[in-house]
Amino acid sequence: MLSAAAKPYIEASVPVLRQHGLAITTLFYKNMFESHPELKNLFNMGNQANGSQQQSLAAAVFAYAANIENSAVLAPVIERIVHKHVSVGIKAEHYPIVGSHLIGAIKGVLGDAATTELLAAWEEAYGLLADALIDAENRLYKHNHQQPDEWIKVKVVEKRHESEDVVSFTLQATNNLTPDQLAPDMLTTGQLALPTFKAGQYISVAVHIEDLNLRQIRQYSLSDANQHNTYRITVKREKGDEYKPRGNVSNWLHQHVRVGSVVDISYPCGNFTPDILNQQPIGLISAGVGITPMISMVKEISINNPTRKVLFVHAARNRASIAHIDEINQIKNELNHLETVFFLNESKKQHIDEREGRMDLTDHISAEFKGGIYYLCGPQSFMDDQRNALLELGVDANNIHREVFGPESLSHII
Ligand code: HEM
Repeated sequence: MLSAAAKPYIEASVPVLRQHGLAITTLFYKNMFESHPELKNLFNMGNQANGSQQQSLAAAVFAYAANIENSAVLAPVIERIVHKHVSVGIKAEHYPIVGSHLIGAIKGVLGDAATTELLAAWEEAYGLLADALIDAENRLYKHNHQQPDEWIKVKVVEKRHESEDVVSFTLQATNNLTPDQLAPDMLTTGQLALPTFKAGQYISVAVHIEDLNLRQIRQYSLSDANQHNTYRITVKREKGDEYKPRGNVSNWLHQHVRVGSVVDISYPCGNFTPDILNQQPIGLISAGVGITPMISMVKEISINNPTRKVLFVHAARNRASIAHIDEINQIKNELNHLETVFFLNESKKQHIDEREGRMDLTDHISAEFKGGIYYLCGPQSFMDDQRNALLELGVDANNIHREVFGPESLSHII
């Protein structure tokens, strides 16, 4: 708990720090990378270079400190960070480095206004957050039967072009799990094993990018069920435009990784994971490459809970651009209770489940589905729109879950 002495300093300074957020963040990363250049291998330098990191680590620390005694608000965001941190291999010893540079940056930007008491209060608040994260990360590492920053070497056994910009890679274990890590529920191929995962989870992929002379890590949702003793990821090549940086890793994977390549991946992480065995009707609502975790979910449901009612709604440019559509059609043939709706910008109106234009859920949420549970994945604005639509249609806010690709917006707590 934050001490009574520190509390007023934190409360008074949060608005000031937020106001100087960009300056503090810039100084924080600059100083940290200067004294610890090895950390560039850990962070997403594409986001750094383009200044596009919507939510910097520093901003997050201020947001959390402002809510430090409101665990109901913090718990879900902390859980998300913990999974992300574990997937990139954050260790306890990283925390003092970040902490000292963050406090240093506050001092540097606020100058004389940063009194000894104020800096001590921030050290205390950071320490509390760091301890909470370190504890939860250690628990997750243990739960995964892994060491912090332990990577699994996998071999690419299939590379498939799903559409012009989307490629899926099927990954098979090589051999680096030790016998005590081989839990009974592993996905095994002969002597080789991968940990099982929950539908909706992702793995981090770590690759060395020659042009940057850096290792870079990115997260990709697993896009298949636990059924072939392999993992599959589906990667969209980010070409880059005025709004989004070109994807260093996605382009690298498309260009350099082929069948037989070996890459490092993390243990499966992420808490965007529906209870597959539950009978509550479930809505899977996605746009673009946000379809990837939904494929895994719908496949797991078709295998393990085939009588469950599923509403699968997806927005895309056209039918040809939808990754894994053949698999969805196949499941549809097998599952009586799966309803699909595709909202397409360019619809040829050749299929009964096609609609032209932007997604509109109005006609698709039956009385039964008002009491359903929903999983949304796609661009932030898309998820905001669909969440609002679901709320208007009477769905309970607690039954709407979303997965953000990239740093989560913390606007709801800042
Ligand atoms: C109290 C301390 C910390 C807080 C509050 C914090 C917060 C966050 C948040 C909010 C995210 C984005 C999660 C998302 O995707 O939604 C994140 C990601 C990340 N954090 Fe932390 N973090 C802390 C400490 C650290 C430390 C000590 C390190 C290691 C030096 C670190 C490295 C990373 C990395 C590499 C990512 C992935 C995003 C990227 O690649 O840039 N964090 N953290």
